[in-house]
Parts: sequence; C-alpha cells; structure tokens
Amino acid sequence: MAAAVRWVLVAAVAAAAVVALDNGVARTPPMGWLHWERFLCGTDCAAEPDRCVSERLFTEMADVMAAEGWKEAGYEFVCIDDCWMAPTRDERGRLQADPRRFPGGIRALADYVHSKGLKLGIYSDVGNSTCAGFPGSYGHYELDAQTFASWGVDLLKFDGCNAGSLGLLAEGYRNMSLALNKTGRPIVYSCEWPFYLRPVQQPNYTEIKQYCNHWRNFYDVYDSWNSIKSIVEWTALHQDSIVKIAGPGGWNDPDMLVIGNFGLSWEQAVTQMAMWAIMAAPLFMSNDLRRMKPEAKWLLQNKEVIAINQDPLGKQGYRVAKDKSFELWERPLSDRAYAVAVLNQQEIGGPRNFTFSLTFLGNGLACNPACSIQQILPTSRDWGVYNWVSSLSVEVNPTGTVLLRVVPL
Ligand code: GLA
Repeated sequence: MAAAVRWVLVAAVAAAAVVALDNGVARTPPMGWLHWERFLCGTDCAAEPDRCVSERLFTEMADVMAAEGWKEAGYEFVCIDDCWMAPTRDERGRLQADPRRFPGGIRALADYVHSKGLKLGIYSDVGNSTCAGFPGSYGHYELDAQTFASWGVDLLKFDGCNAGSLGLLAEGYRNMSLALNKTGRPIVYSCEWPFYLRPVQQPNYTEIKQYCNHWRNFYDVYDSWNSIKSIVEWTALHQDSIVKIAGPGGWNDPDMLVIGNFGLSWEQAVTQMAMWAIMAAPLFMSNDLRRMKPEAKWLLQNKEVIAINQDPLGKQGYRVAKDKSFELWERPLSDRAYAVAVLNQQEIGGPRNFTFSLTFLGNGLACNPACSIQQILPTSRDWGVYNWVSSLSVEVNPTGTVLLRVVPL
C-alpha cells in the first residue's frame, strides 16, 4: 500500500483539469461517524459515563457500526473530534490522550476499531491550540503525523483555530499534508482551510485540492433546520466556484449529518440526506447510534441514496432553478444518469406540486429521447418511462425533498 501513497499530481476532473491530492484515499466521499455535533466536549465521565469523550464512546459506536448494518451500508470511519487530548504533551513532546478518559491509549483503540473492520479518525489543529483549548499541532506537524501513523490512525480532521496568521494557516495545512504523506500510511486528510480563510481572502481551491481530501467551507452544522437550510443555500450561492473542484480524492464538506438527533423533522431529515447525496458530501453522522429510531436508521442506511452519494463519476450536483420557493437540483451520475432533487422551501401551508419539463434536466440530455424515472426519497416509487418533452409533477411537503434517479433510454 505504501507505494500507493505518493505525490502524483493527476488531473482528477479532466474537464476542469483540477489537480488532486492523490494519496489513494477518498476516491468517493468518505463515510463514517464523528462525535462532535452530538457529543461536543463532554469530559466529565463520572457524571456522564456514556456521553463523555472517552474510549468507551468510540468502542461502543464501533460495536454498533459493525453489528447493525452501518458498516455494510458504507460507514467506515469512527472519528474522534476535539477534546480527546491530555492538557499537555508527554515528556517526549508527543500528543497524548487524556489518561482518565482513554486509559488504553489511542493505539489500543485503533486496534479495536480495526478488529471490527472499521477505521479510526482523529482530530488536531493547525494552530497553537484546538478550538476547545487543547494542545495544537503548530511546531509539531511531523511529530504529530508520525504519532498518528504509529497509532494506526486512518483519518485526520485538522481544524484551523488559533493559527496566528493567514500565512501560517496555509503553511500549516500544506505542511501537515506533506508530513502525513511522508509517514507512508494512507490517511484521509480533512481540512477546514477555506472556511477559516474565506472571511479575509478568496480561497484558492485548486491549491487546497492538491493538499486535502475534503474541506469545510462554511459554519459548523447544528441540529436545526435553520442550519441545514443555510448550508444548502450557501452551497448554491457559491456553486460556480466550488462544484467544479470536487471529484475523486477531493470533496467539498458541508459538515456532519445530524439525522437521528432532536432538531430535524422527518421531512428535514430527508432533505439533509438527499441534498448531501446531491452535493457529493462526505457522510459523517454525528448522532447516538446506540439509540436510533428505525426511521432514521432506514434513511441513513438507504442503499439508493448512498449509491448516489458514492457515484464513481464523482461530480458534485448544483442548483438548476429556484422558483416560488421550490428548488430544482441535479447531479450527473455515471452511465449518463442523473440524480434530481426537488426541495420545497416554503414553511407555511401543506404539500405543494412542482411541475417541470424534463427538457430542463442535464442540459437537455438526461431524458433524451426518453428516460425511466425512479423515486428514491421520501419513499421508493417507480415513475415509469417518459420522453424528452414530458413534464413531471411531484408533490413535496414543506421543508421536504423528493429525490429521483433519471436514466436515459
Ligand atoms: C470547530 C470545527 C468543529 C469542531 C470544533 C471542535 O468549530 O469547525 O467541526 O471540530 O471546532 O472544537
């Protein structure tokens, strides 16, 4: 595998000639579980033994992922976010896990996760300290990359708090990428570089894709419709600059799936799942897999929607039209197929119909001269065969989405 870990700069998206980090990983958007949105920085294990950031949390999550269909659905990474560390480095300058919350250490946790057929993700920060105030990697990029590799870590989420300056932020993201590569271990590199840059400077996505496997552009996701709505809207408003960059090896990251928590209605959960598939987003759930309602599990493990998210062509979707608070999105898939989403943004009233001509889809090519249409969400349904000049009328509930797969005949 080490031979696969090399700096070969390839044109990942031929049309846009975007050069991607080719460390052999993230050829489709990575999938897994990440503790942050649901479990935040819980460190009081005496008061909250099953909610604190501890080895128990991650081993229990790995157990459920392996036992209850998550792994088979494609969710592979069990990821630690902020607050796993002890407040200081060890006597040799290495990062160390909090000894009370991770008595076995990260190496043992990685072994356990690997024994379940899963992979382990960890978190650090480009600056002097993490966003929650734990030790950062600044000045220690090589050592930290080597430490993570020696523990058997498979993914690094590298945050951008406390970087000092924009120059140091960029240099830090580049240097950590090089340091990870130098370890010879394939490690998915998850960045927040453009998010921290954007308030001051337009990110250079061509460069970011040379160093990162995925990158956050926008604020942290919250367990609320407002948050999901704002992420989708931000993505549409910036699609001209970000969609063409995404492809195998490098993805825009709209942040975690919060389905299965408290803040989204059923319609809104469907919208998050459908839109994260259209956006070719990394799928990191942040929820409590030990306590999932069957509907949330059905949605998160839905094979057809995951197949759209993971489509090997690796093209991100985009908004085609916005009309009377309906949004029409499409994503080109392999074999000339298209995923199509109709989102109803109206937050008053009941279900409404959106009628559109199939000539609009795929620049006129998606249903040319005819196509078959399969509905994937909110329920599976076969719409049958249509031709180029047909219209389709779909009923969409407020804040819900209808997700279709259109296959040309
Ligand atoms: C930032 C990141 C979040 C999370 C927290 C941890 O806010 O954007 O995803 O990692 O830091 O402190």
